[in-house]
Formats: sequence, C-alpha cells, structure tokens
Amino acid sequence: MPMFIETCTAPTNIAVIKYWGKDEARGLNTPINSSASVTLDQDDLCAMTSIAASSDFVADRLWLNGKEEDTAGNGTHAKRLRKCLAEMRGLARDRVDASGAVVCTATELASYKVHVVSRNTFPTAAGLASSAAGYACLVHTLAKLYNVEEAYEGQLSTIARQGSGSACRSLYGGFVKWVKGRKPDATDSMAVCVADQAHWPELRAVILVINAGKKETPSTEGMQTSVETSPLLAFRAESVVEPRLAAMEAAYRARDFEAFGKLTMQDSNQFHATCLDTYPPIFYLNDVSRQAIRLCHAFNEHKGRILAAYTFDAGPNAVIYCEAKDRDELLAFMLHFFPPPRSGVESYTNKPALLKAAAAMPLEPALLAKGNELRTPAAGDVKMIYCTAVGDGPRTLGADEALLDAATGFPL
Ligand code: DP6
Repeated sequence: MPMFIETCTAPTNIAVIKYWGKDEARGLNTPINSSASVTLDQDDLCAMTSIAASSDFVADRLWLNGKEEDTAGNGTHAKRLRKCLAEMRGLARDRVDASGAVVCTATELASYKVHVVSRNTFPTAAGLASSAAGYACLVHTLAKLYNVEEAYEGQLSTIARQGSGSACRSLYGGFVKWVKGRKPDATDSMAVCVADQAHWPELRAVILVINAGKKETPSTEGMQTSVETSPLLAFRAESVVEPRLAAMEAAYRARDFEAFGKLTMQDSNQFHATCLDTYPPIFYLNDVSRQAIRLCHAFNEHKGRILAAYTFDAGPNAVIYCEAKDRDELLAFMLHFFPPPRSGVESYTNKPALLKAAAAMPLEPALLAKGNELRTPAAGDVKMIYCTAVGDGPRTLGADEALLDAATGFPL
C-alpha cells in the first residue's frame, strides 16, 4: 500500500510586539492587534515533525514528544489539529515524482489518514513558544505532503494561525509581522516577512529558562480573561500597538538596537501590565524574572546605552535580545549572577563552549557592583541558559531524518 512521508523542522519565534487577545467575533483565531516577532535559529530551538499518509492507516494519530495525544476529542489541541488538517486537505494537489508523473491524486491523498510525530528540542509550554514552532511545522510539513502551493503569499500562515496564533509568524525567518487583517473570513490575518534573517545577522538572544514546567495559565485562556476584563488591554490594542509597531519596524530596518531594544522592553512590560490588569490578575513574571529585568537595566545603565533588551511571554522565562558584539559580556554578567549548578555548564546550556568562555571573562568592577546591589549570585533560580540568534523559516529534511518508520508508518 502506498505511503508518503515528509519531515521538516520549524523555528520558534519570540514576539517583540505582543499578541494578546482574540477578536472573538470572527471566531477564526484572529487577534485584536497586529504583532511582530523575531524568528530564532532552529539549529538551537525547533520543532521537528514527520507526517506519513497511507491508505493503511485507520485514524489520524499524533505523537507529541514521545507520547500519543488524543486527536478525536474536544481538547483544544485535538480541535486545532483537526482544523489545520482539514484546511490543508482542502488545498491538496496531486503528488508527482521527479519526472512530473502523478504518483497519487489529490483526492486519494486527502482521503488517507495521517500519522504525525512531532518533538521539540526545548521545554514544551514553558513560555518558549513551543506551540508556535509546533503548528508552523505541522502546516509546513502538510504542505510538502499534499504538494500545496499557496494561492496567495501568506495563505499557509492563515492556516498555522488557526493552530496557534503565534505559529503564523514561525513560517518565516527574520523579522515577521502578523497583520491582524480586516476581512470577515480572516484570509488576510496573516504573517508577513518584513526583513529576512540576512538583514540583521548580528542579532542574538540569551534565554534564561527560569521555569521549564507547564505554565500556570495557558495563553489561550489567559488572553480570553484579559479581553473580557482588562480596560488597559483594550486601550493598548486601540491606541498603543499600531504606532509602536511602525516604530519597531523602522528600528529593525535601520538595525537600530537602541530603539528596537527599548520598544521591546516597553512592549513586554505593557503586556504584563495587562495581565495584572486582568481580573482576577494573571502573574507570569516571578521574583527571578524581575531580578533579570533589573540586571538588564543595570547592564544598560552601566554601558550608558541599551545593549540588552528583555522580553517575557506567558511565563517567567527571560529572552534577552542583544547584538553579537555585546553577547559575551552580557552572558558573563548573567552567568555571574545565575551560576550553573555544581555539575557544571554541560547540562546548563546548549552552548557549553560559549558559557565556559563567558565564565572566564572578567567583569568590569563598576558593573559588578551595580549587579551586587540587585542580587547575590546563587545557582538554582535559572535552570538553563540557551544562546541563539535570529534564524530562517521552516526547512524540509531528507527521508533519512524521518521520525517515522518508512515500512510501518509508526514512530521510530
Ligand atoms: C504571550 O499563540 O500561544 O506569546 O493563539 O491561543 O494559541 P493561541 O495563543 P498563543 O499566544 C502567544 C502569546 C504570547 C505573545 C506572542 O507570541 O505574541
């Protein structure tokens, strides 16, 4: 029986102008405001997905990080998966071989059940946008499987959006805007690549994983309560985001880190202010997050310029953007105050060599003194430090990298 398998990876993205709040009237997972993000390098953090379609399969099945998930019930992810699958099946075209001969018709292909195996190379649901990478990867892999061609640029992102809003932005590299759109059918609520990863290759991110566990309030639920109860969120969507987005886009195009960084921090702070303005309030930041914020400001103050810019999603983890030239000193500073456990740096980071070099780097005494006023160095509060950079959009991998057995269509 014929079986077709595709395998892809997709990056995560971290918003610099946050999406928070759905336009419930449209019911198509559209946002109340546009947003923008930087795509992170998938060599460091990614979702990897293999999908097989076969006439032998009896049900659509999903294995996420090694565990089979329900696809038939009423759970949020089951419904979202079915939605993305249905949309992609509707766009299926004949599968052809290298010579252009049809090996499976679109109708047949779309009638086959699929087996989806996906895993993340970073903590799921820890506010590190794992659902963004996951749904972007799902849609990109289905596009390969079903030989889909976009009828208009951004069409696939409108489908990823229905899996998870932030996922639409992970279909492109570099600096990506999610335009909220106006059409009632939401076909214009899509991601647009403003500048690809080659535009500002010096952009780096240092991620302090403060809690790798599941988040307290899932974003879908949190933003719903915020929309219902926070007047600050309504004000933000109406009056703050559009001009801020324009300023952010200009800063990014000009590679003006000072402007980019300030707007990034301000927007993260306002997003968390709307969480506090939600009733009952939502607390995503904790004491360690706040120390990371203060340390960033201390670093910038000492340098007399904004060289490090933090941002936090729906969780306590700090993503600190900086440029390559400042990364090592920033890392050394953070490492000093959030040292690795006794076991050393190997299990503390994805980049041991970078952390070892940073640990050996002498810190300016005045900078150290500033930091000492804010925190006494201690291990344990930060679980891991990821180092990464701006990166490209989804990639299609070869058959030898599949997560599914080519003979059985089950996870390897
Ligand atoms: C704080 O995209 O996870 O990360 O559309 O309900 O799946 P759903 O929400 P999701 O929300 C992300 C919120 C955020 C900000 C952002 O990424 O823009």
